[in-house]
Formats: sequence, C-alpha cells, structure tokens
Amino acid sequence: MYIAIMGYGTVGSGVAEVISNNHDSIVKKSSQAELEVKYILDLRDFPGDVNESKMVKDFNIILNDPEVKVVVETMGGLHPAYEFVSSCLKAGKSVVTSNKELVAAKGDELLAIAKEKNANFLFEASVGGGIPIIRPISQCLAANRIDEIAGILNGTTNFILTMMIDKNMSFEDALKLAQDNGYAEKDPTADVEGHDACRKICILAALCFGKHVYPDAVYTEGITKITLTDVEYVRSWGGVIKLIGRAKRLSEDKISAIVSPALVKNGSQLASVNDVFNAILVRGDATGDVVFYGKGAGKLPTASAVVADVIDCARNIEKRKDFGWESGTENYVVDYNELETALYVRAKTDDKANAVEALKAVFGEIEILSRENAEADELAFVTPSGAEKELNSKLEGVDKLSVLSKIRVVDY
Ligand code: HSE
Repeated sequence: MYIAIMGYGTVGSGVAEVISNNHDSIVKKSSQAELEVKYILDLRDFPGDVNESKMVKDFNIILNDPEVKVVVETMGGLHPAYEFVSSCLKAGKSVVTSNKELVAAKGDELLAIAKEKNANFLFEASVGGGIPIIRPISQCLAANRIDEIAGILNGTTNFILTMMIDKNMSFEDALKLAQDNGYAEKDPTADVEGHDACRKICILAALCFGKHVYPDAVYTEGITKITLTDVEYVRSWGGVIKLIGRAKRLSEDKISAIVSPALVKNGSQLASVNDVFNAILVRGDATGDVVFYGKGAGKLPTASAVVADVIDCARNIEKRKDFGWESGTENYVVDYNELETALYVRAKTDDKANAVEALKAVFGEIEILSRENAEADELAFVTPSGAEKELNSKLEGVDKLSVLSKIRVVDY
C-alpha cells in the first residue's frame, strides 16, 4: 500500500523516519504486503535529503494517484490543509492528521465527508502528541458515560509555569528558555495565549460528549498575566498555577468548556505534572478518574501517533471508524460567567482592615493568603465558590479595592 505525506516539517519528517526505521514491523502490523511512502508534498527544497526523490510540489499528483490510499497531513494551519484534506477524503482516500487547528475547526465536516466516502479520518496525534488519548476515549472507555475531562494540554506553557514555580524565573525569561530549548515556537502566541490548549479541549469535548465544540465558543485565557507574586501567594495556599483546559457535561444539550490558568492543590493528579509534560484526566462513570500522562509534543512521539493511525487505516481499508461526533449547536457551550468557581484574587487597597471587613460582609468567609516581603497595600485571598459573575459583582461592590489579578480554582 502507498501513502503520501503532506508537510515535511518536524512531524512529517518524523513520520517518514519512523516508517523507515520500523518498516518491517509496521508492514506486518498493517496487514499489507508493503507500506511505502510514495510522495512527500512540500514547497521547500530538501537537497541531499534521504527522501529527496519523493518530494513533490503539486498536490494534484497525490490527489490523482489511485495507488495512494492513505494521506498524512502534517502541514499545520487551516489553509490549505482543510482544502487538501477534504479533497483527499472526497476522492475516497483515508486521511491521518496531527493538525489540531484543522480538527478543532472542521472535525465534524471532515468526518461527515469520510463517512460518505467510506474512508477514515484519524487524528490521534492532534491531542497529547505521543500520549494515547483519542483511541482510549473512543474505544477503551466507550462503555463509560464521560462527564468531565480536564488537562494540562500544552507543553510550552507548562514548562514556563514550572520554571516560574521551581526556579523563580520571570515569565519572559522562562519563555526565552522554552524557545532556546525548542519547545516554544518563534511566535509563541498560540501557546502562551491558550489557543493551542483551546483547540485540544474542543477535540476532547467533541469526542467525550458527541458534538462539535467550536473554539470561538470556548472562553480562553493564557498565562501572560501570571506573575511571580501570584506564584508565591499560591504556594502559601498550598498549590500551584497550571494552565488547565476543562469541559463538563451539564445536561444533555449543554456543556461547559474553558481554558484558563487555575489554582491546583498540591497532591492532586495534575499538580505534579511538570516541565513539557501533558496530563489528561478523564472522569468516567464506571472507571472513575483515568489520567493519561506523557510528552505532549516532539517529533518522534507525535510521529508515533500518526503512524499508528496509518497502520489502523491500512488494516481497516474497507472499514470506517465512527467517532459519534455530530455538528455543534448554538448555545451548546454555556457562558463561563455562569459557571461555579472559587477565585484567587490579588488586589491593592489603602485600607486593608476595612477592605477585609467589606469582603467578609459580601462573601462570608475568605481565605487570606500571605507572602514574605509583601507590600503594605497588598491583599491576596481566595473566595468561596459561586457563579463567576456573582463573585465579580461582589468584588466590584467593595470600595477602594483595586483588583490586580484573578485566577480560578479547580478541584482536579
Ligand atoms: N506547542 C505545542 C505544545 C505542541 O507546546 O504543547 C504540541 O501541540
């Protein structure tokens, strides 16, 4: 069987490398007489590369070759990946992708085309890199009703937060180190602003709850406003700050989905996930909590997930996998302001004693936090749980309190 790879960057070249390195066992597992990369599509030249003879620049060569049964998309971005993938599926070819932006934006539509054409559209590598998560949710946990999913879904931001927490490094220095280590992109916006984690929670929520979740509907906040002062206060609270993507089934036709920094208590499953590692917690009614942990990015871990999907396609060339993933509906994701949470708040006030009294009057009890060498006008505390909009309106009602930072508290 012949395959083609579109995009010869980090992941695409990793796919070619894994197929070449483990060729014999991959062929055996694929139940095919042969499994060979016939074309690699990329606009760049790769003189002297081991795969130079396979390089093509014209997508139509792949599309119009009936011998190519499975196409790997590792180009990234929405365009032209979307047009290429939908054309391949319409031509009856199966497609495997690592592109979370594509799956999060167009998963429902591409799965519908695949269904019509009796082809497969597989995307194990789009969430968690080499961590098995798509197949476990759709197959191994299929007997469960999954009501909640939460995770540290972005390696770059987890590395930055770990450096801030463990090494007292500023956000800027930690980001620079992440870039020097090759974790963060040169333009790290999608990582640090939470968009990458948002795409991943959309994919996981669609799999768990059965309906497409559009990234625009998910409130997303990154880690750029987290300071070392917040890190210190949260340490005194007995926890750490993590960027958490989470989604919960609220009723048959409503879910919550949000990406934001969050306070996590030490000792919880997610608190000890450090550096570039990812962890995804799935709450099933039969299994209870199941946590998937490992490297969420990187050339060979991600390529390993892509190639596993290629093997799956090859083995099931006439059979199609159904993910039970329908199109989304309006107002499916509830406004995050309506959700229950506790809030960590850091503020300034000229009159601490009065501010504390006023806060107690509106919230009942608050948990006051401390740190060494705090400024005299600094006040940090954790509120009780309540609907976020109500907590905010209570905060606004407190005189002479200037809020500098607010972070949600989670209980995973
Ligand atoms: N930039 C992503 C991360 C890569 O840091 O997790 C994997 O999606």
